[in-house]
Amino acid sequence: MENNVLVEIKKLHVTFGHLAKPVYAVRGVDLRLESGQVIGIVGESGCGKSVTSSSLFALDEPNKRVSGQVLYRGEDLAGLSAKRRVEYRRKALGLVSQEPSLSFDPIFSIYKCFEETFRLVEPKISKQEVTDRAVKLLEMVEISNPEQRLRNFPHQFSGGMLQRIMIALSLANNPEILVADEPTTALDVTTQSKIIALLKGLQSKRKLAMIFISHDINLVADVSDMIVVMYGGIVLEQGPKDEVLGKTLSPYTEDLLLAMPKDGQNYKQERLYTIKGAVPDPQNPPSGCPYSPRCKFAEAVCSQKIPEFVQAGDSSHYYRCVLRRHQ
Ligand SMILES: Nc1ncnc2c1ncn2[C@@H]1O[C@H](COP(=O)(O)OP(=O)(O)OP(=O)(O)O)[C@@H](O)[C@H]1O
Ligand SMILES: [Mg+2]
Repeated sequence: MENNVLVEIKKLHVTFGHLAKPVYAVRGVDLRLESGQVIGIVGESGCGKSVTSSSLFALDEPNKRVSGQVLYRGEDLAGLSAKRRVEYRRKALGLVSQEPSLSFDPIFSIYKCFEETFRLVEPKISKQEVTDRAVKLLEMVEISNPEQRLRNFPHQFSGGMLQRIMIALSLANNPEILVADEPTTALDVTTQSKIIALLKGLQSKRKLAMIFISHDINLVADVSDMIVVMYGGIVLEQGPKDEVLGKTLSPYTEDLLLAMPKDGQNYKQERLYTIKGAVPDPQNPPSGCPYSPRCKFAEAVCSQKIPEFVQAGDSSHYYRCVLRRHQ
């Protein structure tokens, strides 16, 4: 295996069994993340983006059934002892999630959050060292008066500031990989663009590998090198962003792009394109291509079996659609 491959996900299936009928959340995903690379996962709600990315954390849950492999630097996470798995999580991974206000414990000061985070890796870190490092991290995410702010509690910050603090915390132990799961969904558009600029800057400065998740294909394209388009628990298209945007092969990706607002379009005269229908029920996934019930090109063959993942030429651009043939 090449040295720069950090994570490889192979034939990942994740099923939850807490309900009368199993929930087929992820149904065969292959993904490869190289060091310093940004992969953007896009797709509608419930398509399996978070379950796919959280497979990197290798958390066991009583009702979760996982098959396939998640390899970190060539090593299968399932084979690691519980102790090594915890070590790997603490050292290799950082997480920025969707709702900053729900990610902080209201009774912990910001100082305490940093202290707890540093102690995961350095149990004997001194209070002075915690303060010095936390101040630097808060400066990095542009929080002013960091020394005073360390004494504050989560409710004393705006959502945008809390998200900056969460980014600082996620980078506190110098992870190689940052999982940013819809990091700006809960924020207004101005704050969103500032947070995205901050994340992009930090990613390139620290040469972080990142999995960036969003519903918004334009946002994903802005941040990522590679785009992964998911639907109904499977990947319908994947490739370098210019290929996926410029030589789109999956009708679903095409529809996602059409549904984005465009500069200069007059929405009083022309309605925004919408994808009709609803996402499939993960307890009753359609038998063939999961997008076939909504796809404007669908034919009988589409509902027979899940299409193969086909390579477009000799590039790293892949798609699943029996009706499409790349040029
Ligand atoms: N811990 C869990 N227990 C049971 N079902 C789950 C669990 N986590 C996710 N699911 C189900 O798995 C499916 C995929 O969920 P996932 O969270 O990956 O979607 P998503 O693409 O991230 O959606 P969103 O954009 O809304 O965050 C959903 O049907 C969800 O209800
Ligand atoms: Mg999610």
